[in-house]
Amino acid sequence: MTTPMVAVEDLVRTYRTGKIEVPALRGASFTIAPGEIVAMKGRSGSGKTTLLNLIGGLDSPDGGTVRVDGRDVGALSEDDLLALRRDDIGYVFQSHGLIPVLSAAENVEVPLRLARTPAAERDERVRVLLALVGLADHALQRPNELSGGQRQRVAIARALANRPRLLLADEPTGQLDSETAAAIMPLFRAVAASEGVTVLVATHDQSLLAEADRVLTLEDGAVTETPVPA
Ligand SMILES: Nc1ncnc2c1ncn2[C@@H]1O[C@H](COP(=O)(O)OP(=O)(O)OP(=O)(O)O)[C@@H](O)[C@H]1O
Ligand SMILES: [Mg+2]
Repeated sequence: MTTPMVAVEDLVRTYRTGKIEVPALRGASFTIAPGEIVAMKGRSGSGKTTLLNLIGGLDSPDGGTVRVDGRDVGALSEDDLLALRRDDIGYVFQSHGLIPVLSAAENVEVPLRLARTPAAERDERVRVLLALVGLADHALQRPNELSGGQRQRVAIARALANRPRLLLADEPTGQLDSETAAAIMPLFRAVAASEGVTVLVATHDQSLLAEADRVLTLEDGAVTETPVPA
């Protein structure tokens, strides 16, 4: 059996604010195989962002384990965790998080600079990625000179810069009209095919859910497998 790209077991996360406890995850379990495109749905506040943050090593669980490609994220040293986040996981945040003063190309280049990729290789990688997301002709525009859908595609290109094995996307179409949103899943498909990346996307969007290989539903702090909608 191949090692799952993501293996979540009995994951528990309780937020504490003063005396109030919010149990966001109460024992979530599931696995994702390499190459799968999995959508995760659940109403607002059901724990989708919490779960993505735990898988991405941005937050620590109160119980249970997250394994990414066989590695127990909670047991990694600080350095190994940084390396995992930088090299193996791409993250598309709920708000795109682009740097306003940088062009589309420069935004995509940021993670490559952080990884100390040589300049010539950085330029080539940025070119390939902007072409992949359909923005070859918009490389020099800043985020405020791009449409919402274009900004989201720059954020996806940036998340792919260091050739992650796993792409985590948190409602990447939340601020897009339905037509623009419908173009995001084919983009993930293209990315999965050309870059060999596994995709987990939190979404309410029917068109994304319908295009996924599998749909997971978060409810009452647990994850269940649900049918892919027609
Ligand atoms: N930093 C925090 N401190 C306290 N409570 C939090 C924190 N982050 C999230 N929560 C709570 O945990 C629960 C899950 O939040 P989360 O952001 O994971 O939901 P979500 O499914 O991503 O929602 P949405 O669809 O609105 O983005 C919510 O009840 C939220 O209020
Ligand atoms: Mg969220």
